[in-house]
Amino acid sequence: MSDQTNSAWGGRFAEATHQFVAEFTASVGFDRRMYRQDIQGSIAHATMLAAVGVLSETEKQQIVSGLQEILVEIEEGRFNWRVELEDVHMNIESALTEKIGLVGKKLHTGRSRNDQVATDIRLYLRDQTDVIAAELKRLQSGLIELAASNTDTIMPGFTHLQTAQPVTFGHHLLAWNEMLQRDSERLQDCRKRVNIMPLGAAALAGTTYPIDRAITAELLGFDGPSENSLDSVSDRDFAIEFASVASLIMMHLSRMSEELVLWTSAQFDFVSLPDRFCTGSSIMPQKKNPDVPELVRGKSGRIFGHLVGLLTLMKSQPLAYNKDNQEDKEPLFDTIDHLWGSLHAFAEMVPHISPKKEKMREAALRGFSTATDLADYLVKKGMPFRDAHEVVGKSVAYGIETGKDLGQMSLTELQRFSDLIIEDVFDVLTLEGSVGARDHLGGTAPTQVAAAAERARKRLE
Ligand code: ARG
Repeated sequence: MSDQTNSAWGGRFAEATHQFVAEFTASVGFDRRMYRQDIQGSIAHATMLAAVGVLSETEKQQIVSGLQEILVEIEEGRFNWRVELEDVHMNIESALTEKIGLVGKKLHTGRSRNDQVATDIRLYLRDQTDVIAAELKRLQSGLIELAASNTDTIMPGFTHLQTAQPVTFGHHLLAWNEMLQRDSERLQDCRKRVNIMPLGAAALAGTTYPIDRAITAELLGFDGPSENSLDSVSDRDFAIEFASVASLIMMHLSRMSEELVLWTSAQFDFVSLPDRFCTGSSIMPQKKNPDVPELVRGKSGRIFGHLVGLLTLMKSQPLAYNKDNQEDKEPLFDTIDHLWGSLHAFAEMVPHISPKKEKMREAALRGFSTATDLADYLVKKGMPFRDAHEVVGKSVAYGIETGKDLGQMSLTELQRFSDLIIEDVFDVLTLEGSVGARDHLGGTAPTQVAAAAERARKRLE
């Protein structure tokens, strides 16, 4: 055996790995970010091995304190990561053996890198899920508070991006919050399937040592050990599921971004964003660009890409572990990083969105947004809805011709279209009358929006 071969598996090899192959197959460049979980998993594994008598108490102590020293070295930037040791697992194990001698080599008893890596990713993803969930909650809280202070701020509601009916700004913001609430529930649901322990599956078939998987699961805070060793080391569906939850969150953030981009334009001019969330143009001095929403909208693309990438990575793999799975980490890590970044940016920005109430109101006054209210008014006076639709259509045509919105017409003008119209029509043609009349659970009336914001607050607790 050449002393150039890998000490962890080089026994049956007659020549050293080609330099390029060593670099090409190494993952330490990116999987080292799971060092904390790797050490945590190893400490739990050694503790369990001692509990069942495979390691002595002294051996366990040596391993645990060696690993703790390594943890400190890594955190202080004193650890020497070596590409020739392939991945985070072998880097740490080799450092342990250098530190405590032969006992270090006993750590891997009853374990394989296959169940080790599956355990590390799950621990890492579980930790990151909690960090992301906290950021999502912070964003939701900001949205709810902004909604609560805008329960009676009137803006146009849109369908087909054409003015449809007046709504309140608070109602619109709470629509965003509902999307995020479902995302948050999906994230928690995904976490349940992430938090299952593969350790003990060893390479693929389990191990001949008398391991007690319940002990390791408990030590690592898993909900329990996995059922099947082949499945445990091979499937990465939990990462795909996370990427799918992440994609839905990004899709929602992208929709919000699109609206913010529209609303900050001179054409809409509904809201302003603080300068610190925008940037200027090096050529056009007047510009204030909504970069944060634009970038978040753009980042949704890369995350959808990771979802498709991970699905494709998994789709043709025979049982059990294949090296293909090493490719799960970069897309997963990138998804975590950019999802967190996008949520963080939004959580910081949303409380400072300032509505331009007058502009929103003016826009709602334009575009015949109370036309449906006039039709409903005629129906309540006995006219069949289809006829009422026709009558209002005619009055809108008249409004377009004369440049007047419905609420700006005189009673005599309105009466040209139906004699059912009397003085009280102006109660429904005002914006306040229109939103206030939608007074039921889920409706846009200010009292309903206030109650909905209160319920949303409670649900978030
Ligand atoms: N770096 C590998 C990965 O990320 C660790 C597991 C490798 N196992 C093996 N038998 N080659 O998947």
